[in-house]
Amino acid sequence: MRGIKILGAGMYMPETVASNDWFSTILDTSDEWIYTRTGIRERRISEDKPNWYMAAEASRAAVADSGIAPEDIDLVLAATCSPDYFYPALSCLVQQQVGAVNAAAFDINSACTGFINALDTASRFLQDGDYRNILIVASERLAPHCDYTDRTASILFGDGAGAAVVTRSDKPMWSYLSAKGDFFNALYCKVDQSRSNCPLLKPDALPEGIIDTEAKTHTLQMNGKAVYKFAVDAMETAVNKVLERSGLTTGDIDLFIPHQANARIIESAVKGLNLPAEKVYVNLEKHGNTSSACIPTCLAELKAESRIKEGMKICLVGFGAGLTSGAIVFEQ
Ligand code: COA
Repeated sequence: MRGIKILGAGMYMPETVASNDWFSTILDTSDEWIYTRTGIRERRISEDKPNWYMAAEASRAAVADSGIAPEDIDLVLAATCSPDYFYPALSCLVQQQVGAVNAAAFDINSACTGFINALDTASRFLQDGDYRNILIVASERLAPHCDYTDRTASILFGDGAGAAVVTRSDKPMWSYLSAKGDFFNALYCKVDQSRSNCPLLKPDALPEGIIDTEAKTHTLQMNGKAVYKFAVDAMETAVNKVLERSGLTTGDIDLFIPHQANARIIESAVKGLNLPAEKVYVNLEKHGNTSSACIPTCLAELKAESRIKEGMKICLVGFGAGLTSGAIVFEQ
């Protein structure tokens, strides 16, 4: 049986609050427009704390909550699409910061679906007797990627980190992962290669639909309508597929934690899946979309309130750039 148990969870949010009213001082927008279209009131922006700092803080909190010693962590998996360094991996900085001296470490980048892919990967490592405890951290500092003249995209995203320590369990777990690379240009951030001083380099050949002007390179580019349409369908499909695999129905699930991109996306998917709203956890009003960190920050908030209980069946569902999507059902 490929089961996982959450031993501990933790999170870190930067101090600086960027409210919708603050956005209306820099852009032609309003609290009313943003809240009605997205359900977001505020998000955090990390003014000076790098991604690795946020990841390490969330990880330390998760390890403390788990009660295990850092030396007993066998693997650190970091999910991020906004690392501070191309290399080493964010997970290596976290490993050093938390003192997980016996752990292997590598990163996973599937943007906002990162925590789902990392948890699925962790469960497969845990099946192997060599790995007992795995620290998964999802951390994003998207502010340096966002274009703060783009009122459609910049208002959606926030910075933050969430982490969980998981161990093997004899209880069941199922997953469904998907990628639709045909839509890669619906949400992307191109690396700026122009800083190279290699005399042989010319402007990059670009795949269809990718814009690389001086103003657009290294900033998040999004086709909001295309992502919205994909998201509702992808969430419904992923939940239906994972339930099909498990033989369970929505009525058997105690708690649904969706990716926190937009309250309207969540509401549409919840309606399409016929889910009771009281079983769906939403925290985006205060944090916005923190990409891969959304789901583990929900887990950390719920765990801090003792709302993750032994025997509960939990469904996690996410989507993001790629375009990727996935869902996991496990029994705690
Ligand atoms: N404030 C005020 N007006 C805004 C605005 C803002 N922040 N952002 C866009 N608008 C305007 C547009 O310019 C447009 O004006 P126009 O009709 O004069 O051209 C109008 O509002 C409608 O824009 P539209 O893009 O149709 O809005 P929408 O209802 O689709 O909402 C999103 C835009 C981005 C909120 C929505 O498409 C969305 O959430 N998409 C998914 C994005 C996502 O989740 N990305 C992350 C995935 S992990």
